[in-house]
Amino acid sequence: MAMLDGVQTLRDLEVSGRRCFIRVDFNCPLGEENGQIVVTDDTRIREALPTIRLAIEKGAKVILASHLGRPKPGKDNSKLSLEPVGAKLSEMLGVEVLLPDDCIGESAKRVVKDLRTGQLCLLENLRFHEGEEKDDETFARALSELCDVYVNDAFGAAHRAHASVHALARLTPERGAGLLMLKEIAALGKLIEGAERPYVAVLGGAKVSDKIDVLESLLERVDGLMIGGAMANTFLAAKGVDVAASKVEADKLPLARTIMDRARDKKVELLLPVDVVVASGIDATSGEIVDVAQIPAGTMALDIGPRTVELFTKKLNTAKTILWNGPLGLFEKEPFSKGTFGVARAIAATKAFSVIGGGDSAAAVHDAGEDVATKISHISTGGGASLELLEGKKLPGIEALRGAMRAS
Ligand code: 3PG
Repeated sequence: MAMLDGVQTLRDLEVSGRRCFIRVDFNCPLGEENGQIVVTDDTRIREALPTIRLAIEKGAKVILASHLGRPKPGKDNSKLSLEPVGAKLSEMLGVEVLLPDDCIGESAKRVVKDLRTGQLCLLENLRFHEGEEKDDETFARALSELCDVYVNDAFGAAHRAHASVHALARLTPERGAGLLMLKEIAALGKLIEGAERPYVAVLGGAKVSDKIDVLESLLERVDGLMIGGAMANTFLAAKGVDVAASKVEADKLPLARTIMDRARDKKVELLLPVDVVVASGIDATSGEIVDVAQIPAGTMALDIGPRTVELFTKKLNTAKTILWNGPLGLFEKEPFSKGTFGVARAIAATKAFSVIGGGDSAAAVHDAGEDVATKISHISTGGGASLELLEGKKLPGIEALRGAMRAS
C-alpha cells in the first residue's frame, strides 16, 4: 500500500528481550461509577490488544504510552490520570499493568527495568508534560530513555505532530507501525487509492467549517454525497429554505453555494434533507416531523426525518463503497436519534464496503446496536486522523515512521 511505503511493522522488528515502546491512543471516554472514575467505552483499548499481544508473544518488554484528554497547564488534572485505563487494560488482557506516576524520569525507568514476564508498563498521561504537544526534542529524548524499539499504534493521534508521535519516532532508528495502524490505513487507504464505484459519502456534524477540506476532497472522488446534521441547515439556507431558528453558519453560505455548484458540474449527486425533526430547543423532550419547506418559526431542526432516511437509504443501496462521517442529528437524545440510527442501520444492511469515521459517528453506530456495528466493514478509532487522511493530508505519525533502520 503506497501510503505505507518505507514503513516497517511490528512484525518486522526485533523486539525479543528489548524495551518496546508502543504509542497507543487510549484517549477513552471516562465516567463515574460508585465514586470511582472508570472507562465508559473501551473500544480503543480493545483495538490495541492485537499489537500488545504480538509484542508480548515476541518476547518484548512492553511499555505503553498515551495521552488522555486535554490537560490544562497549572490546573488540577488528576482526573486525567491513565489509572482507570490501566485497570481496564489489566482486566481485558489478564496481565499486571504497572503505572509509574510520571511518564519520564527515575520512577518510570525503575518500573521498566524491573518488569517481569506477565507484567507491562503503562506510562502516565503524556500530556501532563507540555513538551508532548510542543513536539519538544528534550521531552522526546527523556521518553527515548525508555525505548529500544518504537512502535506507533495510535492511529487516532497520528495527525498530531506531538513528541511521542513525531520527535520520538525520528529519534529511534528501529521503528514501525502497529497492527491497528496497519488496519486503519488499509481500510481508509481503499477510499483514497481506488474505491470501488459507485462510492457515496454521508457527511454530518455541527459545522460546514469543520468539513470544508473533506468536502472538497470527496467531490473529486465520490458519485453521491448526502448531507445531514446541523451542517445541512447551512446548505438548505443557501438554497433559500427558511430554516427558522436552526443553527446556520451565515458566513459559510457562499461556500455552501460553491460546493453545490461544483457538485453539479462534476455530476456528483448531492442530497440534502427533505424533512426534519424540529423542536423549540436542544432540551426539548419531543420533536415534530415537518417538511423542510415548512419549518415552523421559532423551531430548530435537530434530526433528519423519515423521508430523508428513506431517500438516503435508496442512494446507499446503489453503492459499492460507503463513507460516513458525522452524526445526522442530536442522536445522544432519544427524540432526535432516529435519523442517525436509521442511516446507521441502512449502511449496515448494504453489501458495500463501509467505513465509519471515528469520533461521534463511531459512537452513534455503537449506540444504534452491536448488531449494526458488527456489519460495518471498518469503524475507525480516529475521528480527526481519519478526516485528515481523507482530506488528502500526510499524517506526521505515519511520515515519522518512514526510513527506519531495516531489521536484519
Ligand atoms: C482523538 O480523540 O481524536 C485523539 O485521541 C486525538 O485527541 P486530540 O484531539 O485531543 O489531539
